[in-house]
Amino acid sequence: MTDASSEKMRIGIIGCGAGIFHLRGYQAEPRATVVALAGLDTDRCQRLAKQFDIPAVYGDYRELLEVRDIDAVSIAVPNHLHMPVAIAALEAGKHVLIEKPLARSAEEGERMIAAAQKAERILAIAFNRRYRDDVMLVHDHVAAGGFGRVYFAETYWMRRAGIPGWGSWFTDKELAGGGPLIDLGVHVLDMTLYAMGNPTVTSVSASTYAEIGTQGKGNFRNAKTIERSAGTGNYEVEDLATAYLRTADGATVMMKTSWAAYTGAEDDFGFSLMGSTGGCEMVSRNYALTGTLKVFGDFEGIASDGSPRLIERDGHAEVINRFVSAIRDGTPGVPTGEEGLDRARLIDAIYRSAAEGREVLIEA
Ligand SMILES: NC(=O)c1ccc[n+]([C@@H]2O[C@H](COP(=O)([O-])OP(=O)(O)OC[C@H]3O[C@@H](n4cnc5c(N)ncnc54)[C@H](O)[C@@H]3O)[C@@H](O)[C@H]2O)c1
Repeated sequence: MTDASSEKMRIGIIGCGAGIFHLRGYQAEPRATVVALAGLDTDRCQRLAKQFDIPAVYGDYRELLEVRDIDAVSIAVPNHLHMPVAIAALEAGKHVLIEKPLARSAEEGERMIAAAQKAERILAIAFNRRYRDDVMLVHDHVAAGGFGRVYFAETYWMRRAGIPGWGSWFTDKELAGGGPLIDLGVHVLDMTLYAMGNPTVTSVSASTYAEIGTQGKGNFRNAKTIERSAGTGNYEVEDLATAYLRTADGATVMMKTSWAAYTGAEDDFGFSLMGSTGGCEMVSRNYALTGTLKVFGDFEGIASDGSPRLIERDGHAEVINRFVSAIRDGTPGVPTGEEGLDRARLIDAIYRSAAEGREVLIEA
């Protein structure tokens, strides 16, 4: 294990799909260096190792976890493996940065958090969308009371045709735990609740639909961000989810998320917040990072709109910077496993509400 503060922290990355976002993030982090990758898809992992000059490549994750001088791991594997891989890593003494969602269910998430506590290691979650410049600005503005009382929010992630691998693990209920809700909805719910100052959600009323994927349609034609795994399975998850959330302070949030729907969306996400003295609308089409935010207020008593000049931020690099600081200096600020668990409870409640066709209360 690396203790001396002058030495670079040694990192392993498990999973070579979204693992690339972590590789880029660590490249921007001078206090850490990636020393190993693990993945079952040997070709893709070898390509990444070459591209990022990583000395060691393993197959199964257990081989990587046996390397004693790896201090921390980033885990970007299919959702059903989040819990077992994270627990094995924590038991091997590694700090863990897990991809979203925390796990397929809150129950799995609770076991991960217990393992982190027992091992006295950090369990953090890659809620990278929080660290977009627009979201960070809105978060700080809300915290400073800039919009007054925020009483209503809308949030969405909608794709016209963006099933991430029809027939892959993503569309297998057992392996993924769900469809766009657990995949994309978790991002936008986290991002929006974070921007609002993290109010406690007390109840949800939701519906899910599987109308397009089940016809064999709606697959991504040209995924823009990473290579997608193809598959031979079926379509077993929702392709659209809608939800209405109530919070303890009386605010409400409307959410919709889809991998495939007859809509004008391409690959679009965003939110709007309405407060008593101001509001905002964030719209990101195809992952745009700038030109995405409008703010609404008053100027001399007249309704007035503006658009802050944004900078491009790499959300994974921001999370990784906070993860390394948390390990090295005990600095708070990295999204924690507990925050991931909070969102997992919310996702569980949304699926339950949809399955039972009624409002579901979330216990504190
Ligand atoms: N935060 C984001 O923006 C973002 C984006 C995409 C995906 N993700 C998340 O990342 C995770 C992975 O998604 P993906 O799109 O990269 O999936 P993927 O199928 O493309 O890649 C999964 C990787 O896990 C590896 N893997 C599976 N079993 C393994 C084992 N036993 N040992 C070692 N490696 C193993 C595979 O070989 C592959 O490299 C998911 O949880 C997803 O939600 C997050």
